Amino acid sequence: MKIALLFGGKSAEYEVSLMSAKSIYENIDKKIHDVYLIGIDNKGEFHYFDGDIKSVADGSWINNVSDAEVVFCSSQKKPGIYSSDINIVFDLVFPVLHGPFGEDGKLQGLLEISNLAYVGCPVLASAVAMDKDIAKKLFAFEGINQVPHLTVCSWNNIEKSMIDIEEKLGYPCFVKPANMGSSVGISKAKNRDNLKKAIENAFLYDHKLVVEKGINAREIEVSILGNSEDIKVSCTGEIIPSDEFYDYDAKYKSNESKLIIPSDISIDDENEIKKMAQKAYKTINGEGLCRIDFFIDKDTNEIFLNEVNSMPGFTTISMYPKLWEKSGISYKELVERLICLAVE
Ligand code: ADP
Ligand code: DAL
Ligand code: MG
Repeated sequence: MKIALLFGGKSAEYEVSLMSAKSIYENIDKKIHDVYLIGIDNKGEFHYFDGDIKSVADGSWINNVSDAEVVFCSSQKKPGIYSSDINIVFDLVFPVLHGPFGEDGKLQGLLEISNLAYVGCPVLASAVAMDKDIAKKLFAFEGINQVPHLTVCSWNNIEKSMIDIEEKLGYPCFVKPANMGSSVGISKAKNRDNLKKAIENAFLYDHKLVVEKGINAREIEVSILGNSEDIKVSCTGEIIPSDEFYDYDAKYKSNESKLIIPSDISIDDENEIKKMAQKAYKTINGEGLCRIDFFIDKDTNEIFLNEVNSMPGFTTISMYPKLWEKSGISYKELVERLICLAVE
């Protein structure tokens, strides 16, 4: 198959995408697929890059892109790459993009309009998974246990919202942009002053925020693979963040955060988390893949669904592929299965 591997993108998770793309590229079987690297820069422009994958990971790809035209939606040309000496028509797209514009259904909509098969969740599932506020409303409707939370929009009275947060959630609380990932824009607030700053900071990324009661959490994650009713669920893994919480630096910059795979939670908790994960995946109409993240309250042992990620990190240290490795599916096989699920 001729696969367009999309990377980069117009979101604050651009750099994470570069790392994920390198790792996926290296694990696609080149004996059966031709892979074309299509980078999206931070203005949202698409470029064909036919250089070394190492230049994708270190970000220097952008200085060396081809002049060829990348086409997705056109009445004249099939989706592909075109120049005087290049004429490549794509069979499938692997969007290795995280965050708004790549993981939130917008790009998936473009691919649907272009009649292209693509890896991962379709438009609706992607959009719902990206928006923590809408996802929480749907999960609540399905009776899935979640941490107490409130939504705050930029047009709300922020003073009044802060009073609501103090009354209903208390401190510490977590302030998050509704549409973002990799902990970008997230702060833990321990008092009114922190809260005000946390809200201002999160509004740099979205006009809508989710604020949650902070819990003393064990962080447990599980991977899902499959379409519709034919879903596989991996073993669970635990994250021990190097910092007070699993922020951007603890995720990607520090070598101190630890992944424990499989996690050493009780069989009952493991089963409950797997059941909740399947329910969450079905709730958003997930297809292809998702990583579903949970908290276990260290004080009460209560299990909470935290969030679903429709294009989880695929870096060499990422939980999604590591959980599958431990569950019997190698990285290479996982990538091939994702490609097959996209054309099922
Ligand atoms: P993202 O989509 O950016 O990954 P998350 O909702 O997963 O956002 O939050 C990022 C991290 O912040 C979590 O992995 C966890 O370490 C911490 N965190 C988020 N919400 C809470 C909470 N309610 N209580 C305790 N820790 C939290
Ligand atoms: N949003 C990042 C990539 C993750 O959840 O893994
Ligand atoms: Mg998360």
